[in-house]
Parts: sequence; structure tokens; C-alpha cells
Amino acid sequence: MSKVSMPVPPRQDEFAHDPKGIMKWLWRDYISRYRLVLGLAILLMAIEGSMLGGISYLIKPMFDDVLSAGNRDAIAWVGVGVAAVFTARALAAFGHRVMMVWAGQRISARLQSDMFTHMLTLDSNYFQKTPPGNLIERVRGDTAAVSTIWEVVLAAFARDIVSLIALLAVAVSIDWVWTLIAIAATPILVIPVGFLQRRVRSTSRLSRMVAANISTRLDEAFHGINTIKLTGTEARESARTSTEINAYAKAHLRSNTAQAGIVALIDLIAAFAFFGVLTYGGLQIIAGTKTVGEFMSFFTAMALIFDPLRRLGGVSGALQAAMASLERLRSVFDMAPTILSPARPAPLPANLIEADIVLDNVQFSYGDEKVLNGLSFRATAGETTALVGPSGAGKSTVFNLLTRIVDTGSGEISVGGVLISDLALPDLRSLYSVVSQEALLFDESLRDNVLMGKEGVTDTALNHALKAAHVEDFLGRTVAGLDSPAGPRGSNLSGGQRQRVAIARAILRDAPVLLLDEATSALDTKSERIVQEALDELSQGRTTLVIAHRLATIRKADKIVVMDHGKVVDEGSHDELLDRGGLYADLYRLQFQDT
Ligand SMILES: Nc1ncnc2c1ncn2[C@@H]1O[C@H](COP(=O)(O)OP(=O)(O)OP(=O)(O)O)[C@@H](O)[C@H]1O
Ligand SMILES: [Mg+2]
Repeated sequence: MSKVSMPVPPRQDEFAHDPKGIMKWLWRDYISRYRLVLGLAILLMAIEGSMLGGISYLIKPMFDDVLSAGNRDAIAWVGVGVAAVFTARALAAFGHRVMMVWAGQRISARLQSDMFTHMLTLDSNYFQKTPPGNLIERVRGDTAAVSTIWEVVLAAFARDIVSLIALLAVAVSIDWVWTLIAIAATPILVIPVGFLQRRVRSTSRLSRMVAANISTRLDEAFHGINTIKLTGTEARESARTSTEINAYAKAHLRSNTAQAGIVALIDLIAAFAFFGVLTYGGLQIIAGTKTVGEFMSFFTAMALIFDPLRRLGGVSGALQAAMASLERLRSVFDMAPTILSPARPAPLPANLIEADIVLDNVQFSYGDEKVLNGLSFRATAGETTALVGPSGAGKSTVFNLLTRIVDTGSGEISVGGVLISDLALPDLRSLYSVVSQEALLFDESLRDNVLMGKEGVTDTALNHALKAAHVEDFLGRTVAGLDSPAGPRGSNLSGGQRQRVAIARAILRDAPVLLLDEATSALDTKSERIVQEALDELSQGRTTLVIAHRLATIRKADKIVVMDHGKVVDEGSHDELLDRGGLYADLYRLQFQDT
């Protein structure tokens, strides 16, 4: 079997929240708005719980009045009493179950939606560092795990604590000495139960973490299915995923064993209790100081007490497990985006048609890797500026900085003299139509992929964009034209078709600045030429930045900026750069030798 990375232990700070704080947050933001329904449900649970007391209470007259004394009249009222108790219990149980599920689902849904909405505000950087499977597991798995809090924990607490109190009351009313004997051994439980609870918490954390790893593995395997097939790594993938799946089973087993341990401990204590009461009470009955009815009633109360007690023990385990999920959720909610609109945003430059984009001594690193190293250039308004340079030079990074997908380390970027960090993010991003290096489509219709939520688009405008981007050319070959599904991540289309949809999207967006990153790289030469013409036309009167490896496509650019290792090494027109004979001339010559 291949080597497999075991789950990394959680970072310390990730779980630095105190359980009280987390519960307060859950109450304030989620549970409290359903407090009326929950209150009513708790009342019904209390009714259900107290009925157990009623049952054990009725045992005494059943034995002493009906069975021993042979009192016929008592049959009727004891019988009606027992029937009434069971009916009340059934109705109350049905009512609170429905209410709890209703409130529980509402709370879970709200938590999930809030989580997703919050995640969308986080920096792109976070999504690059955290695999999608892990994120999905937080939105789905952890919120589901948390719902045990109200569906199981709250329910059991309200019902079982009331049962416990009612049954204890019956027990004490019969004989408080017997009751003391019965509960004498309970304090022994405190230490082992505390230990088991901590164990449930830590193993649940581990199992939630491994669950996230499994989702990550599945997500990557299904997305990369062709790569797995082509590299013949099916066995390796299966082994890696099986290891995670087994790790989950193991962690889950450990957590459930600890939970079962808590319940078993309570049963052990029951053994002591029954032994004590039977010895002491039995002697009293033989001596004639107590009736059989009293003993049976007490015994029933005790037998019934251990049921809710056992459940409460189990609940404390479930609570610990839910806590592990809550901590994971809270740690995401606590994460704040760093790329934000300023408190008081500057207005967009009034005359965008004359707004140059200027980068001045921009530095940028991904972690320790320096990507841009004092980059400066000007993209003149209304003109086309091309960025060329070897792969990894930092060209796409420049686009990410302009749109504030990432923020600069130091240096300044301005549009029409206004720093981009002084603009509101929506204003800044409204400046750009972007065709990025990987044309990303969503699993919806081609029409929706082109519109991307843009409203009030006329058919004429849509058709013009489709025509200019040559989407029209292949619409006839799709199953339902514009209404054809693009497939997950656009997988129903070829690479070149996806690129054309992305170009149509950019054309329709009609923003003042055009950012094209290898926008036509996936097209055949003929389509590229035609789409290029459409893009040339679109760039008329717009500030355009183009990144291209195929230098033929940028020959006509007003200015070419040559980048290498995160710096500008040369700039000028195509002819000037060729004459100077630097990196650009080398790249250009290589391409024309090759073709
Ligand atoms: N999300 C990221 N995390 C870490 N490093 C990154 C990330 N994105 C890019 N890099 C690094 O930044 C450097 C510049 O990447 P960039 O995408 O800007 O290159 P590029 O000039 O667009 O290259 P290409 O022509 O191949 O598209 C590369 O060395 C790359 O390894
Ligand atoms: Mg790139």
C-alpha cells in the first residue's frame, strides 16, 4: 500500500474557544429566535417525563388496594389513571418531537446558509489553502452534527431531567432512607464519566477532521478522474481513500465506545443500588414494617430512573461530540476577510476614459515565495497594454492584484490617480471585464453562464455578444442551444468552447477595463483570428491589459511590458523591443523558429 498522510493534528488556536462562549453564540444567534416553540416543546417533554412518575406512583394502589386488598372499586380508578397517564404521554411525545424537528431543521438551515454566506466573504487565499472537500464537510457535516444538540440533547435533557425529578419525588415519598441507599454510589461516577467525556470530545474532533479529509479525497478523485485513469493510479487512489475511510471508522468507533462507556457505568451503579435496597427493604417487608406495594412502587421508580439517567449519560457524550463540530464551525465564523472595502470609500474616477492604471514598485509574495519584486508600469487609458514573459513570471498575479483577489505586500496600484485600496470593492470590480486563464463555467445553462446574473439584458445585446465571441458557431451542435447545460465546471464543452463562453460573458459585461489572460489560447488558429478581431473591436476605447504567450496575438498592442521574475525587464512597442534584442526578441524568435 502506498504511503498515506495521516490527519494532521488540529492547530492549537483553532480550538481555543471556550464551550460557554460557543453555547452563548449558538443561543443568541440561532436558538433564541425559536424560544417560544422550544419552550412549548420543553413543556410537553416535561409532561411526558413526569408521566413516568405517575406510572410508578400508581403501582402502589395497584398492589396494595387492588391486588392485595381485593378492592373492586379501586380497579376502575387505577385503570383509568393508568390509561390517562399513557395517553398524555403519547400526545406530549408526539407534539414535542414534531416541534423539535421543525425548530431543529430551521436552525440547521440558517446555520448552513450563514456559514456559506460568510465563507463567500473570505479571502480567495483561504480557498486556495483549504480543500473544497473540507469546506463542504463544514457546511454540511458539521452543521448536521450540531443538530443533535436540539434534536437529541435538548429533548433528552428536558424530558429526562423531569422524569428524574418526578421519579425521585415518588421514591422519596415512599421512603427517603431507601432513596439514599439507592443513590449512595452515584458520586463514584464523577471521575470516570469526566474522563470518558473528554475522550468523546477528542475522538469526535478527530473523526470530524478525518471526515473532512475523506470529502477532500473524494472531491479530488472525482474531479481528477481522467488523470487517475491516464496515469494508472486507481489502486493508489483507492488505497489512500480507504486509509482515510478506515481512520474515520476507527475514530468513530473510539468516540462511540467512550459514549457507550458512560452509559455502562450508570448501569453498574444500578447494580449496587438494587442490591442495597433489596437487602434493606426486603428485611423491613419480612418484619412487616413496609408493604409489598410500597416496595414495588419504589422498585419501579428506581428501575425507571435508570433509563433517563442512562440517556442523560449518553446525552453528555453526544453533547461533547456536537461540541467538536461547533468548534469547527465557530473557527470558520471567527475568520475575518482581510480584503475589504475601506471604511470611507473614495468615489470612482469621474472620467474613466482617461483613467490610467499605474503600478508603482509593487511587491507581492505567496507565503515565502516572492512573486512580484518591485513591479512598475503604466497601462494608458484607452490603449492596449500587453504583458509577456516566461511562465511563472507573475503575469496572472498582476490581474489578481488589480481586481484585489489578493492584496499587495507593498507598493501602490491606482486607477485614474485613485488607489484601488481606497475604492469600495464592488466599485473596483465593476471596472473590469475579465477573461481569466481558466475559463470557469458553472453547472447551469449556457445562457446563465453568459449572463452571470446580469439583469435587463436585451436579446440584441445577448446575440451580439454570442456572435462576437463565436459561441453561435457551436450552439447548433449542442442539445438545446442556449439552454443546454454546461455540465459540472463546464465539462460538456470543449476547452475552446468554454473560452468562447467566457469571452461572451466579458463582452456582455461591458466594463471600462478589459483584462484578458490567455483568452484565446485554447482556440484553433482560425477561430482565434476571428475571436481576436472581436476582442480588438471590444478593446476600442477601453483600457485593455492582455496576457499572451502567442506573441503574434499582441503584436499590435500599443505597449508591450516584458516581465521576468516578478519585474519589468523591458517595455515598448513590438518593433522597438525587437530592435533592442532583449528577452522579448528571444521569445519572439523562438516562436517563429518553432512554427
Ligand atoms: N495561489 C498561489 N499560491 C502560491 N503560489 C502561487 C499561487 N499562484 C501563483 N503562485 C506562484 O506565483 C508565481 C507567479 O504565478 P503567475 O500565475 O502570476 O504566473 P504567470 O506569469 O501568470 O505564469 P503563466 O504564464 O504560466 O500563466 C508562480 O511561481 C507560482 O508558483
Ligand atoms: Mg498566468
